[in-house]
Parts: sequence; C-alpha cells; structure tokens
Amino acid sequence: MTVSQPVTFVDAAAADAPARGLPLAPEHEQPFAPPELYESWRSDGKVLVIDPPSGRWWIGQSSRVEQGRDKVRHVNTLTEPVDPAYEDYPVMLAVIKNKDCNLGCTYCFAEADTTRAYLTGEKICSLFHQILANFPNKQKIVFLFSGGEPLLHFKTIREAVARFTEEAEPAQRERVMWGIMTNGTPITDEVAGFFREYGFNVCVSIDGPPEIHDRNRPVLNSSRGSHAKVEEKLELLTSHGLSYSNICTIVEPEDLMPTFDYQVGKGRRNLYMRPLRMQGRQISGEGSSAVEEYFDTQHVMASEFLRMADRIIEYNRTHDDKIVEQTIANHVRHLIDPKKTFMCLKGPCGAGAGAKMGVDWEGNLYPCDTLVEFPELQIASATQVDHSRDFAQLFRDSHVLKQMSGRRPEHIRECSQCHVQKFCGSGCTATSYSVHGNLRSPSDRCDYERALFEGLLWRFYDQPDSAPLLLGMERSTKRSQWARPSVLEMCTGGAL
Ligand SMILES: C[S@@+](CC[C@H](N)C(=O)[O-])C[C@H]1O[C@@H](n2cnc3c(N)ncnc32)[C@H](O)[C@@H]1O
Ligand code: SF4
Ligand code: SF4
Repeated sequence: MTVSQPVTFVDAAAADAPARGLPLAPEHEQPFAPPELYESWRSDGKVLVIDPPSGRWWIGQSSRVEQGRDKVRHVNTLTEPVDPAYEDYPVMLAVIKNKDCNLGCTYCFAEADTTRAYLTGEKICSLFHQILANFPNKQKIVFLFSGGEPLLHFKTIREAVARFTEEAEPAQRERVMWGIMTNGTPITDEVAGFFREYGFNVCVSIDGPPEIHDRNRPVLNSSRGSHAKVEEKLELLTSHGLSYSNICTIVEPEDLMPTFDYQVGKGRRNLYMRPLRMQGRQISGEGSSAVEEYFDTQHVMASEFLRMADRIIEYNRTHDDKIVEQTIANHVRHLIDPKKTFMCLKGPCGAGAGAKMGVDWEGNLYPCDTLVEFPELQIASATQVDHSRDFAQLFRDSHVLKQMSGRRPEHIRECSQCHVQKFCGSGCTATSYSVHGNLRSPSDRCDYERALFEGLLWRFYDQPDSAPLLLGMERSTKRSQWARPSVLEMCTGGAL
C-alpha cells in the first residue's frame, strides 16, 4: 500500500505544543483549520478516501475516485458524522483506588508498591451515597474497586458494600453494579463467596503464558513470577461458579499472538488485549528503557493487532463460540457507530463527564482513575467532598473539567490535521497528559491508531462480513445491529 501522507508519530513536546499545565479556558480557544481529504492508494488500484473533520470515508476503484471524493464530502456511506455525545452515558464507572500492592509489575501506571493508609468502609459507603444522590436517576453506576491491589483491603471493601446494601433504598440498590479489577493473587474462598453474594463483575489481569506474564508481573521486591498463583485463583473462581473477564497488557508487539493463543487455548472467548501505555512506572522506573522502542514500534503493534483481527474473523466465520477481543471491537465500533460509545476513544473523553470518575486512597476526587497521580487534575479534595452539601456542584465548578471538555481534536494542532481524528478522538487524556504534561496534546500512540483504523477500514471493504464477525456476531447480522454493545461495554470497553 502506498500512503499519500506521511504517517508518523508527532512529538507534541516540540515546537507548537502548549506549555506544561492547564491551557486557556476552552471558550477562548480557536479551533485549527480542518485539513484536506486524505487519500491512501493501494497497489491493486483501490483507494481509501477519508474526510477527516466529518469521519466520512469511502473505498473504491481509483478510476472512480472523483465520485468517492464527492461521496465523502456529501453523502454518508457507513459512518454517520456525529459529534460524540458527551453527557448521556448510560453507565458511570466510579473507580475507588488504593495505592499499595503485593506485585511489582514493571509497567504499573499506578506505581503501586508498599502499604499506604486507605479509606475506611464507612467513608467509602458515604461516598457511594453522595455519588448516587448527585447523578441522574436513569444512569446506572458501577462502583469499581481497583488500585493498587484492591483485595489487600478486602475487609474494608466488604464492610463498605455490606453497609451500603443494608442502608440503601431498593431504587438506589438497583442502580448499582459492583466491579473489581484485581491481580487475582489474594482471592480466597471467602472472597469468591463475597463476589457471588453481591454479583460482582470480576476482572483479573493476566498477561498470557508464564514466560510473558512472569517477566511483566513479578511478586513485589522479588524475581518470582505470579502466573501460577493467578491461574490457580482463576480456577478457584470457576469452582465457585463465577465467571470473570481478563485484561492482558501487551508490552512487546511480539507478545500479542502468543497471549491470544494462550487465552483462546484456555477456552477464554471474551478477551481484552490492551497495549502498554506510557505512564507511571513505564516512564519513571524499570520499564523506562523501552520508551524509545515503544514509539518506534507502533506500526508493528498495529500490524500484530490486525493479524489477530484476521485470526478472529477466520475463527468466528466457522465457530459458534465467537471470540470478542475488546481493543479491536472498540475500534470497529468507532468506525461504524455514530454514537462512538467507548469513552476512551472520544474527544472530549468520558472522564469526569458522566462516564467515569476516580477516587483515590485518601478520598480525593478525580475525573478518571488513571489521573489520580496528578494532584493538579483533582476535581475536589477529600475535605471539600466532606464539607460539600451539593456534591454535583463540585463537578460544575471544576476548572479541570472545564479544560477537559475542550480537549477536542480540532483544538489540538496535530489531531486537527489527522485523518483518523473522528475515530480516535485524540486518544487517552491521561496518557497524553502523562507524556506531554498538558491537556492539548495528542495520544502517545498515533502511528498505532492510524494504522489500526486504516487496516480495519480496508478489511470492511475486502471482507464485508468482517465488522459483525469482529463484534462477535453472526456474519449475517444486519448492519443496523452491528454497533450494539452492552451498557457495560460502552463504559468499560469490555473490561467488566
Ligand atoms: C493498575 S492495575 C490495578 C488493579 C490490579 N492490581 C491489577 O493488576 O489488575 C489495572 C490494570 O492496569 C494495567 N496496567 C498497569 N500499568 C499499565 C500500563 N503502563 N499500560 C497499560 N496497562 C497497564 C494492569 O495490567 C491491570 O490490568
Ligand atoms: S498492575 Fe496491578 S498488580 Fe501490577 S503492580 Fe500495578 S497495581 Fe499491582
Ligand atoms: S487524532 Fe489520534 S492518531 Fe490522530 S494525531 Fe490525534 S491522537 Fe494522534
């Protein structure tokens, strides 16, 4: 394939990037002028045309390219160009995080290690009540425990959940779903019984086969891996009749296929392969030696993900037990779904905007759990939360949330010129902030996003059944049904 525009990682720390810190108020920002149509030619005489600011696209014979250009300018083909809906998420994910952990993962963005003070069960329960009382009644709320390793505080979590369940009105209880993201190692029969009793959505991190997992996820201050223990605890969950999902963090591009094969070989069909992000210990600690390589290998990571997509298409064409991999499924949805349901591929993203919020180990409030490492991005301190009569007012008054609402592709120089801006939405706010130190810079993985989105568009053209198959649907599923994720998938990307 020949590409008419260079596709490179743009280093926003250079020339035009805003200074570190918070930018101008959004109402004083001028959008950058939109770019021309993007065209990518293939050696077989086919061409992909994208109209970047609307997200309309067309693929066809190069002899008909004029017609294609007209189409993307004037006619909707598959993608309805809609500004991402911002406030109407059906589920909000409120993540409660501790900071301590029993593992020492090389890349940990939470930089979790030894014991820190944590909220009491009573305090967490009162936060549940405050959050519920101040967000619209129609919205479901997932209270998700993460960290650090949340199960190091199992007794506190149990107290908070039991207390809330006892105190809450039935209507409040119905709005709540429980979730946990854990490294799995502290799970016991008692913990599994608790998950069952309260209907927890359980997500356990495992990075694939032992040689990969143990390299990434050793026991804290030890060279001993944690793989065997995690698999043992997954079996324990199964023996209690509990289902679970997994997140596999993909550090090296060549880890992806062995991890995919491992998970599928274990009979797991709901997969989530998340590429490494440049945040926390991955930048500051042991993993940091890989920073340059990370930026240099973005294309390779994308082609490995596309190779995995091809395997899923092939498998799902002939099998009833369909495989769904959430990174690919989220990207497919962002190409075909006008509503752009996944909060992390939107600009502005769902953080603090009705899709997500984070609470740290001291009770301070943040727009997202991945931002709790940045005190300057707090929505409110624990003391303000304690003294607030109108909790929602803290959100309305937040200077940080106002800035975040302006993080749109047309306000970021690199994104405003990028052909996948309507699909990528400028990428993850937290990682961008972590790498560039401001809220008006692009993602840390532009080359990866561009190559992945383009690769999927070509697959939709070459194999018209590829989109439903990648969403785990039958190949004959009608187009109007393609982009219907469950409410949890909409807000968690399928992690729960
Ligand atoms: C921070 S951990 C907290 C919960 C729990 N301790 C666990 O490991 O699942 C949540 C998830 O983030 C992933 N993660 C941590 N650092 C990451 C990074 N730099 N890039 C991508 N994922 C990362 C972990 O592998 C895990 O799946
Ligand atoms: S990724 Fe999870 S298990 Fe690993 S160090 Fe971080 S918090 Fe602990
Ligand atoms: S829209 Fe996405 S891929 Fe394009 S420049 Fe912005 S962050 Fe990078």
